[in-house]
Amino acid sequence: MMKELKIKKNFNAIYTEDSPRSYLKEMNRLEYGVSDATKPLYNSIIEQLEETISRPINILDLGSSYGINSSLMKYNLTMSEVNDFFLNGTEPTKKETKQFYEKCTRNDNMNFYQIDISDEALKFSEEMDLCERGMNVDLEAEKLNLLGSFPKIDLVIATGCIGYIGYKAFLNLLKVIKNRRSNSIKSKKEYTAPIFAFSVLRMFDMDDIKDAFETYGYSIVKSDIKLIRQRKFSDPKEKAQTISILHNMGIDTEKYEDDGNFYADFYIAKSKN
Ligand SMILES: C[S@@+](CC[C@H](N)C(=O)[O-])C[C@H]1O[C@@H](n2cnc3c(N)ncnc32)[C@H](O)[C@@H]1O
Repeated sequence: MMKELKIKKNFNAIYTEDSPRSYLKEMNRLEYGVSDATKPLYNSIIEQLEETISRPINILDLGSSYGINSSLMKYNLTMSEVNDFFLNGTEPTKKETKQFYEKCTRNDNMNFYQIDISDEALKFSEEMDLCERGMNVDLEAEKLNLLGSFPKIDLVIATGCIGYIGYKAFLNLLKVIKNRRSNSIKSKKEYTAPIFAFSVLRMFDMDDIKDAFETYGYSIVKSDIKLIRQRKFSDPKEKAQTISILHNMGIDTEKYEDDGNFYADFYIAKSKN
């Protein structure tokens, strides 16, 4: 967990319910828009990967929660369609939820694998076929044996969860990737390291994360795109503290956070060899 996270509202209780309803309700109230915004960015990387990979693209979603990225990408929904289904009227049953997803056009060329510390969120996602498999681990833990049961991953994504996870999580993942690569070299198999793509709120210091990627032979770049609006501040204190951090970092908030929203950058990291 990064220190700046302390000033953000704590949503832990709604990350761990059996159903995504409370999570979606709160995010809807705060006009959470980051997932709709990152969807085309991830999709364009997937389209590039499809040019050279002739099997479904394996995507690892970090801090995946209830499979929102999969709902948007694999099932081609928008956040507002997801919200309409879950939030309008009485709470849908599991059967109704399953039917809702079954009626969507599913992109079978994307396979989602998910990591989250919320077992409840992962169970929901697995039951609704939003992912092939979920792994309930703390990405920030010391000495993590990760990905052991995942297939070769082509793209690692993370939406709105840097802060909860930081450089330690990336070091953990990059170490596993390095081991996998060494093993495949030994067994003379070709191995292409996954691309990482993720959103990061402007208030999070990226230095340690950048160092982690450099250490493992990745180059990491901030995308040259318009800033992504993540969500509204939940109260005046969250706004004031965020703006104060940003000003201390020398970041001008005039056209952005001053309007009452968190803004995020988008990073892409690729292995140099
Ligand atoms: C803001 S939510 C992001 C949800 C999702 N990506 C989305 O866009 O809707 C952050 C998620 O990170 C998970 N998380 C927090 N700390 C974690 C950790 N140390 N390891 C793995 N997951 C973690 C939480 O359980 C939560 O589901």
